[in-house]
Amino acid sequence: MDAEEILRFADNLVFAKTGKRLNDHQRAVVRGTWQRKTYPQIAKESYSSSRHIRNVASKLWQLLSQVLEENVNKSNFCSAMERYEISQVSNSGHFNLVQKGNINFCTETSHPPKTPQNSPSTQGSNEDDTQQKPRLDLRDAPDTASFYDRTSELATLEQWIIQERCRTIAILGISGIGKTHLALQLLLQIQNQFEYVIWRSLGTSPTLQTTLKSLIKFLSNLPETELPASTDELLSLLMENLRSHRCLIILDDVQTILSSEQIAGNYRPEYKNYSTLFKLIGETYHNSCLILNSWEPPREIVASSRENSRCHSLQLGGLGAAASEILREKGLLDEDKWESLIDTYRGNPLWIKIVAAAIQELFSSRVAEFLKYDTLFLGEELKAILQQQFDRLSKLEKQVICCIATEIDAVSISQILEKVQISPLELFDALQSLGRRGLIEKLEAGDRALFSLSPAVRQYAKIDREQSNSIDRSDVH
Ligand SMILES: Nc1ncnc2c1ncn2[C@@H]1O[C@H](COP(=O)(O)OP(=O)(O)OP(=O)(O)O)[C@@H](O)[C@H]1O
Ligand SMILES: [Mg+2]
Repeated sequence: MDAEEILRFADNLVFAKTGKRLNDHQRAVVRGTWQRKTYPQIAKESYSSSRHIRNVASKLWQLLSQVLEENVNKSNFCSAMERYEISQVSNSGHFNLVQKGNINFCTETSHPPKTPQNSPSTQGSNEDDTQQKPRLDLRDAPDTASFYDRTSELATLEQWIIQERCRTIAILGISGIGKTHLALQLLLQIQNQFEYVIWRSLGTSPTLQTTLKSLIKFLSNLPETELPASTDELLSLLMENLRSHRCLIILDDVQTILSSEQIAGNYRPEYKNYSTLFKLIGETYHNSCLILNSWEPPREIVASSRENSRCHSLQLGGLGAAASEILREKGLLDEDKWESLIDTYRGNPLWIKIVAAAIQELFSSRVAEFLKYDTLFLGEELKAILQQQFDRLSKLEKQVICCIATEIDAVSISQILEKVQISPLELFDALQSLGRRGLIEKLEAGDRALFSLSPAVRQYAKIDREQSNSIDRSDVH
């Protein structure tokens, strides 16, 4: 476990016992103790007095002693937590709100534990947290595996949702980058700020009516037979619920209602009415929040993120150095080569998991041996994932991405225009759309912007072009 994991783990333990999150000083004590720091060092770093920090720590050790049912103090805290984590992994049903980096997904409605009457007092910034007992419906949410880092993304999202009271947040990014798991982790952190939390996947492309009914049934407890028949009435009933309760709605896999072979963000014809839902939630007054996870932003979200301070988009990048935890978890060797491997696959956790599995299988976990071949491995799994992304592209986007793929270095707009027969306006549209899909990388070079592709996308773009060429040839014959 690293410091952030231990922090989440301790936070969950305390939350399960008291219904309250760790406050800033308690977090400093946990983090500092894990990093083997002294109380005066922790006090200095958290702008507090040693006496206060000792006091906070002493109460925290008492609390953890109760939870872990053994005497916890500064010197045995690390080993106690590790022992307890191991026992929880092997006995995951025992304490369902406290599985590492996890939530209780099994029940349709689940409540955090009640705050005990005599719970220890908390100090610091979390003292004002609204201690809610949210009703949860997470039946559509996947179970989590290990979760690393994303500290700054989580802080940004929490800032938008809790401090700025944003109404719509879009978490955007290429498949496998970690949108779903980031949203799950966020949920764990902020669920007690809401009265209702509901997670729905649009993976099966439900109609707007179906989605509205399922949201309203949960939020208002009305049976299906009592729900209005028209979409307009359902929309106003939903908005009524979002005004009268603080609700968090997460819609995952939103790209499934958006169309393929067009510039990013257009709806499939039968799903156009979702735009009314997104507009209403983004633009009208209420106290709730909608989080959308998608490969690309629906049109309204682009406009709202630009014009409305209560709507934000987070374009999710790779995990960076934290992805090495995935390699460690997989037991890969040659740690000095991990950085290069992570950079090649742009820190995309799913891509890295796929490549790590191949290195285990083919090279007995030796990363250096794998990298010797100086060729980019995609494998069938990664190719299938990238194919799904490419299948969504418009003709224009494919032309542009293929052009960038043939260049070794990053290229400017004028260089692309010299190579493809399209107008500047068409190129601007295509580049903007590819950017929104997270498929191109933009670099600043002096006074101009240059565009490039990640190695995996570049490789797949070449495969895709060869496939299209061979289809064209077979059409001719
Ligand atoms: N922060 C993280 N730490 C460790 N593993 C992660 C992290 N984020 C994601 N993963 C892993 O990467 C994989 C892909 O994550 P996830 O399903 O969240 O991606 P996604 O962006 O939602 O993909 P899609 O768009 O295809 O739904 C999962 O196996 C997940 O466990
Ligand atoms: Mg997902």
